[in-house]
Amino acid sequence: MAIRNIRKYGDEILRKKSRNVEKVDLKILRLLDDMRETMYDLDGVGLAGPQVGILKRVIVIDIGDGPIYLVNPEIIQAEGSSIEEEGCLSVPGKNGLVERPTMVKVKYINEKNENNVMVGKDLLARALCHEIDHLNGIMFVDKIIEEG
Ligand code: CO
Repeated sequence: MAIRNIRKYGDEILRKKSRNVEKVDLKILRLLDDMRETMYDLDGVGLAGPQVGILKRVIVIDIGDGPIYLVNPEIIQAEGSSIEEEGCLSVPGKNGLVERPTMVKVKYINEKNENNVMVGKDLLARALCHEIDHLNGIMFVDKIIEEG
């Protein structure tokens, strides 16, 4: 277990597209564990691979119900719309209003290397969209409607 260094806005790695993970092996499990620890250390609700300098499609989320690990997450359905304030550990001190769906259905591989589908609503839907955007080099600042 280790706390990893967070890449900050302006770092080119945050703009790159992450690659799919072939298999959830020990190395990926260690990465997920480090990401969880790093996220908790900084009081975040989500963290994506590129934010710790790893261009792999892995995210960790905890909106208060315990950690969720998603490998190769893909949004297969989205509904609704809500505008709420967002922030990002890679953009400290900045907040802004971003429009996101109120429900997303996400296909992913879990930490046991099993295929899974999750439905996220409200804050969880927002966190899933925010973190999956990171895997495609998209940051919340690109989508700000109004500065917070
Ligand atoms: Co972020």
